Amino acid sequence: PINLYGESRKNSMGINLANDNELKSLSDAVNAAIKPWRATPLVPGAKSAAASIAVTDPSDRRRAVGEWQPADSATVEQALVNAVAAQPEWDRLPAASRAKILEHGADLLEANRAELIALCVREAGKTIPDAVAEVREAVDFYRYYAAQARKLLAQPETLPGPTGESNQLFLHGRGVFVCISPWNFPLAIFAGQIAAALAAGNSVIAKPAEQTNLIALRATQLLHEAGVPAAVLQLLPGDGATVGAALTKDARVAGVAFTGSTETARLINRTLAARDAAIAPLIAETGGQNALIADSSALPEQLVKDAIASSFGAAGQRCSCLRVLFVQDDIADKVMTMLAGAMDELVVGDPGLLSTDVGPVIDEDARKILIAHAERMDREARSIKTLALSDTTSNGTFFAPRAYEIKALSTLTREVFGPILHVLRFKAKDLDAVIDQINASGYGLTLGIHSRIDSTIEQISRRVKVGNCYVNRNQIGAVVGVQPFGGEGLSGTGPKAGGPHYMLRFTTERTLTVNT
Ligand code: NAD
Ligand code: ALA
Repeated sequence: PINLYGESRKNSMGINLANDNELKSLSDAVNAAIKPWRATPLVPGAKSAAASIAVTDPSDRRRAVGEWQPADSATVEQALVNAVAAQPEWDRLPAASRAKILEHGADLLEANRAELIALCVREAGKTIPDAVAEVREAVDFYRYYAAQARKLLAQPETLPGPTGESNQLFLHGRGVFVCISPWNFPLAIFAGQIAAALAAGNSVIAKPAEQTNLIALRATQLLHEAGVPAAVLQLLPGDGATVGAALTKDARVAGVAFTGSTETARLINRTLAARDAAIAPLIAETGGQNALIADSSALPEQLVKDAIASSFGAAGQRCSCLRVLFVQDDIADKVMTMLAGAMDELVVGDPGLLSTDVGPVIDEDARKILIAHAERMDREARSIKTLALSDTTSNGTFFAPRAYEIKALSTLTREVFGPILHVLRFKAKDLDAVIDQINASGYGLTLGIHSRIDSTIEQISRRVKVGNCYVNRNQIGAVVGVQPFGGEGLSGTGPKAGGPHYMLRFTTERTLTVNT
């Protein structure tokens, strides 16, 4: 393995997706791991009385995947009581002991890779390569935050002082952290939030997305197996508006880590602010209206390849995905023709098949929003390409990738979360106006630049307000510890996940001054 993170850690194991034998044995193991899964709240001392809800495969709704049971209000209350009681002892453990447990958790994720991939494919509609990347990212998060805990929390920092006085700065967990996660990275983001909160010494109540409770349950069980006490990490499946809201309202909650839509982040922010309780931090990672700017020096083949991967990979359901391609008019026609041709090569279908590039979207609600947007684009924009779906997709929630040429970024008033790419042409003299339009959207997550001109790259990257800027490559798939990930403005509060400042936001600082 590559030694990505220094001497103390190793990167997670990959799979050589170009090796047919490796892929075949992975695919066999994934198929063998499929079983009827069931998720319930994991809360010591509570048993929810709520009725279970069936889970079906997004790529074929006739296929049962399992069922999940929401937490009822008594279970939510018991989880809060447990979390408050369990946190001090967890925080008192040496940071190295917590780190060791997380590292064991990483090993267990790798050992259970086939089942986790099967869950990502069947519950979340991820393709096998995307599911492999999910597991790797989750493993990386555990190892990265474990390494951070060893480095930053093991010893207090000794500070200067006059003779006869010692000063030390200690970092502690804040208390009970609520981690609220989305369905689009049902393992990696779920695991990343939890790992940082646990490493810092908090107890955690995890509230996964309604669509992906089965994956969340398996990840939670593996952390328990690794040694996290059951009351230190509890799982509360449930509706955001009921279980999520009940948690964020509660005065016993010391902090919230949230990843999801900008609208929900705002709601949580208001709820936390309205509490008659300690002021709790909100770490929010939200949506984007991500652009790519390509000038006439860009290499069209590379540009199209990267635009396709960034727009249609994961069925366009990454917060980092490319939504708006700005292309200089000198090369615009050529690029749009090549884009349409390249889109024809995309295989849309069952994500369990190794030949599939684009799987389903997560559910019928998501598909309806995309259909409504596409209908508007069909009326107001010029179609570059709309793929046709094959009959094999008719029982799933599939949405055919498409690209439109639009006239102004302002026609997109909100994030379009799926495989739709918008293209805008611009003149070289208007580059600053393009940058102004992107900044005016208020979002600031990812930006792509395709150019061979250093001064243009510098001009764009210096002025566009985004968290992650990628030059002459695709703009997805940030690697933990290598490309710390997260946005600004409407895209999130920071600090960046998988970066050196993230875990610190889950801690509180205490200074001890002793007159010796
Ligand atoms: P969402 O906001 O609908 O839901 C996210 C989570 O919030 C879910 O667990 C949901 O149950 C919970 N929730 C909903 N209402 C709540 C409330 N009132 N109180 C507390 N919790 C509540 O988002 P989603 O559809 O699951 O995820 C897709 C969104 O996530 C997209 O906007 C995407 O851009 C964003 N996202 C951002 C990042 C990032 O790192 N910036 C990463 C992945 C996804
Ligand atoms: N971290 C994910 C990416 O970079 C969202 O694509």
